[in-house]
Amino acid sequence: MPAKICNESIVGVFSHKCNLLIPHTRLKTHANQFAQVANNDVLKDYIVNFLCTRDQSDNKNEITLIDFTFGDGNSTKAILENLEKVKIICLDRDAEAFEKAKKLAERDPRVIPVHGKFSDLPNVLKSMNYLFNSIDGIIIDVGISNTQMSSKRGFTPEVDSVLDMRMDSTGITGYQVLNAIDEVSLARVLKTYGEEKRAKKIARAIIETRYTFKKLEKTEDLNELVAVVVGTNVRIDPYRQTREHIAQKVYNGLRRFVNNELNELNYAMVIAEKYLKPHGIVVTQCHSIVEDKIVKRHLTGNVIENCANDLALKFINHNLSVDTEEMIDLTASPWSMLEKSIASDSNVKLRVAMKN
Ligand SMILES: C[S@@+](CC[C@H](N)C(=O)[O-])C[C@H]1O[C@@H](n2cnc3c(N)ncnc32)[C@H](O)[C@@H]1O
Repeated sequence: MPAKICNESIVGVFSHKCNLLIPHTRLKTHANQFAQVANNDVLKDYIVNFLCTRDQSDNKNEITLIDFTFGDGNSTKAILENLEKVKIICLDRDAEAFEKAKKLAERDPRVIPVHGKFSDLPNVLKSMNYLFNSIDGIIIDVGISNTQMSSKRGFTPEVDSVLDMRMDSTGITGYQVLNAIDEVSLARVLKTYGEEKRAKKIARAIIETRYTFKKLEKTEDLNELVAVVVGTNVRIDPYRQTREHIAQKVYNGLRRFVNNELNELNYAMVIAEKYLKPHGIVVTQCHSIVEDKIVKRHLTGNVIENCANDLALKFINHNLSVDTEEMIDLTASPWSMLEKSIASDSNVKLRVAMKN
């Protein structure tokens, strides 16, 4: 395949299969390198360099991309600004984000707004006549948007509101979970979904408070309780020296549980692999290790029955002798990693991979 020069910094191989230029010079790890750079700039950089670079001489083929997480639309706007012949399916489960996508579509016909979850996408794509292996690129930027963060929907301890925590208006709310869940399950949610070290202690306090007939309905109720249990209301990040409310991880865990976010993310990775063309690109951004672990396990082929494998190595029998070829076959990944930004002083993890 011919090498093409698309701009001064990027040289790569144009993939005829997916109309995208795969920049060879960027096959490297950026561990720690971006510590000082705003993560959104890194995401934008990856989007522009991996999804918006195409052979300029080829005017026939339009690229089809999916922004799985439209949010405030910054990723989509970066594409629209940098790629002329493109169609972007803009998905979000949040009604407000969907309204924003619709407004953008009124101004720009390249945008196709879709209201729904990752798990709704196969049906949506089917109704739009998209088949497996038909999409050129995908963006998955998990977590909550700036609009959600500053809304009065209980996503963060910083804004006084009711503990709703739902990204859409279906299913159970955060306060319903807090007022119904048992202690053991709550501790598991806070630990595995929220990476909260004091999960058991906080879960016990929440259940005890419930039995004293004090309902936990508002952010101030939960903030106060967690601060009393831990003995402070701020956590200082040891690397960045930034401050966050001590209950932030409790919020993260509950929010991920309420919105079934980890299962949705697992499914998003399955969908990405099915719908991308060979040589199609996925760009992911995660805001926690617990989310990034799911993405990474899919990208490295550590998947059992379509689920990111959660088996810790300590449970593997080292006496087991495995045939090398069988092992290579078993651990083969449908992806090739192109780039990652895994700064140790930040929870934000970005990855770019190409479907083989
Ligand atoms: C971090 S924000 C994305 C920000 C976006 N990249 C931007 O430029 O503004 C994540 C968005 O994904 C949406 N989201 C999260 N999980 C989802 C799911 N399972 N299905 C659809 N949308 C989801 C959220 O509602 C939120 O708006």
